[in-house]
Amino acid sequence: MNQHEIDIVKSTAPVLAQYGEQITTCFYRNLFEAHPELLNVFNRTNQRTGRQQTALANTVYAAAQHIDQLHVLVPVVKQIAHKHRSIGVKAEHYPIVGEFLLGAIKEVLGDSATDDILAAWKKAYGDIADIFISVEKEMYEQAEGAKGGWSDYKPFVVAKKVKESSDVYSFYLKPVDQNPLPTFLPGQYVSVRVQVPSEEFMSIRQYSLSDFGDQSYYRITVKREVNVAEGEVSAYLHDHVEVGNEIEMSAPAGDFVLEQSEEHPVVLISGGVGITPTMPMLKKSIEEHRDITFIHAVRTKEQHIFKDDLQELFAKYPFSYHVAYSDGDVDADRTYDQKAGRIIRDDLQKWCKNTEASFYICGSPLFMEEMIKSLKAIGVKSESIHFEAFTPKMSVAVT
Ligand code: HEM
Repeated sequence: MNQHEIDIVKSTAPVLAQYGEQITTCFYRNLFEAHPELLNVFNRTNQRTGRQQTALANTVYAAAQHIDQLHVLVPVVKQIAHKHRSIGVKAEHYPIVGEFLLGAIKEVLGDSATDDILAAWKKAYGDIADIFISVEKEMYEQAEGAKGGWSDYKPFVVAKKVKESSDVYSFYLKPVDQNPLPTFLPGQYVSVRVQVPSEEFMSIRQYSLSDFGDQSYYRITVKREVNVAEGEVSAYLHDHVEVGNEIEMSAPAGDFVLEQSEEHPVVLISGGVGITPTMPMLKKSIEEHRDITFIHAVRTKEQHIFKDDLQELFAKYPFSYHVAYSDGDVDADRTYDQKAGRIIRDDLQKWCKNTEASFYICGSPLFMEEMIKSLKAIGVKSESIHFEAFTPKMSVAVT
């Protein structure tokens, strides 16, 4: 891009961001009208609830602000690229998205979007898309090149289905081709693709891998979402997917993973079903003899999943383990530290003696926001705090 085009893009990016919602709404409407097959790829619940509505376009505008130094975007691109690779976004999708994003900008801005402006944005989108495409190409190659790896979706059979609580089931999944499973990094997730009979298109959802150490299966642990629109996949898995049935899955992905240094102390904090990625992290950290603090917040003791697993680990290995039951009813039979009520700043101050540790948080956006705020207040640096959202990342990235 020449300097003139760079100047145009930089000066108009805030204007586009201002019309963000209108452009995005127009973009998705026209995109899905012309390419209904992409409804097999996008999460329609995120569309309906507006959660994904602005993530894509906002990222393009934010990236455009750095159009003359695109290398600074690589860490953010990598995070999104993990999700794209896991879902199955391909290089050939980018020109389609670009065409409809440009079209939406033109439609919403009308005459203000001059030919010069549109031409500069076309180039900017192309440059940004190229970075995504090359990062994702590498990720596809890695996924395929790993021992037992694969690059798209492949069928898995449900070997075991375990009820963890009234609204949570674990599924133990083995590959139909019986190839060995690639190792994964604790904290990573997989995409599950199913055809829900009431839906016209395929549905894709991400679930953290919730167990670690046995290479013969992958385990996912699924909470039934109460809202019918949100819960179409979880309800289908709970009610219709039984032992012997098959579902499709892509290879593990995600950068919410333990830092490399094995000596470094870790604090794992989870809320509700957010406990799932912290279980492999805990097991791996035990293997590495790390100094571990495991903190879990859950509404009731009945909803505290993996209770027995954790009790067993706690009896065998020295780690610091605290559970807060927000309904105030503690479990008298258990030997770990329990709190009646929600986790507050003072609890974290008491439980997290080493503020230099690495902190990993997973739970609802509200829970994570509260924990991040409290951790910062007790002196934990932002760069030591890692978190995983179950909703599109942009919605919590602002915290
Ligand atoms: C998710 C940005 C291109 C499909 C996302 C997210 C961002 C993003 C920020 C949220 C990440 C998260 O949840 O952690 C972008 C940018 C693009 C681009 C900047 C272009 C430069 C594409 C293309 C496709 C695509 C070409 C495929 C047609 C998806 C899907 C999701 C997603 C399916 C998952 C969320 C959902 O289903 O609601 N993207 N994206 N994206 N993107 Fe992209």
